[in-house]
Amino acid sequence: MSTLTITPLHATLGAEIGGIDLRKPVDEDTRQELTRALADHLALVFRDQSLTPSQYLEAASIFGPPMEQHYSQHNMQDYPLIGLIWHRNGQQPAERWHTDHTNRERPPAATMLYGVEVPTEGGGTSVASMRAAYRALPEDEQRRLASLTTFNTLEREYDARPEDREKYSRPIEHPMIRTHPVHGSRAVYFHVTKATHISGMTPEASREYMSDLIDRMIRPEIVYHHVWRKGDVLVIDNRGTMHRAHGDYDRSQSRVLWRIIVEGDRPRLV
Ligand SMILES: [Fe+2]
Repeated sequence: MSTLTITPLHATLGAEIGGIDLRKPVDEDTRQELTRALADHLALVFRDQSLTPSQYLEAASIFGPPMEQHYSQHNMQDYPLIGLIWHRNGQQPAERWHTDHTNRERPPAATMLYGVEVPTEGGGTSVASMRAAYRALPEDEQRRLASLTTFNTLEREYDARPEDREKYSRPIEHPMIRTHPVHGSRAVYFHVTKATHISGMTPEASREYMSDLIDRMIRPEIVYHHVWRKGDVLVIDNRGTMHRAHGDYDRSQSRVLWRIIVEGDRPRLV
């Protein structure tokens, strides 16, 4: 019998999962319950975890097989499927709303972040429901978006190793509205800087439209803001959300998150 508990954290999205020690294997029923909980709540929080890199990889595979990340210069030594989010190795917090790795034909179903070192204040992670964003759009705009696609590649302006650029720069087309494969609902789906353009639009008009959409769609009512505690594991469903980091913390303190992304389906609108 599973002792799993699911406690919503916000009116629109996010739930805290209790009764799970991610160091231990979960049975098939529990795995299915967690898969369903992620599809329903779009962001799951497991508190007070204490994981080695291999235990964390094992835990991530509850949600899918871990996949390679394209900023390989930030990968953990000996565990290349774990990326380090750490300003001390020259990274800027990803403060713009986005969803991960849209330049993959099958982008990650979920992104997992594990709070290994967290600042005393600030440095949170926000997650917005793009399912709620879709529902709130006027019908004619829902219809318009359903007819559009984006073309995605690795940004030119960010540091990436030549070998990663080589592997991950082929243009990948995705629908701007995608249907969640587990939940069956629709969500708005795009990445402002990875999309070079929207079908039939110039790069400039595309960028302007996507930025305007984000400004109009992402309101506090559809955002769960995660305040990090050491030992938190946050699982973000990339099929129905966008997320962003907050750089509002004291840089003399350390903020270290271990990131794993897990395999997902090719985005489809059905
Ligand atoms: Fe991200």
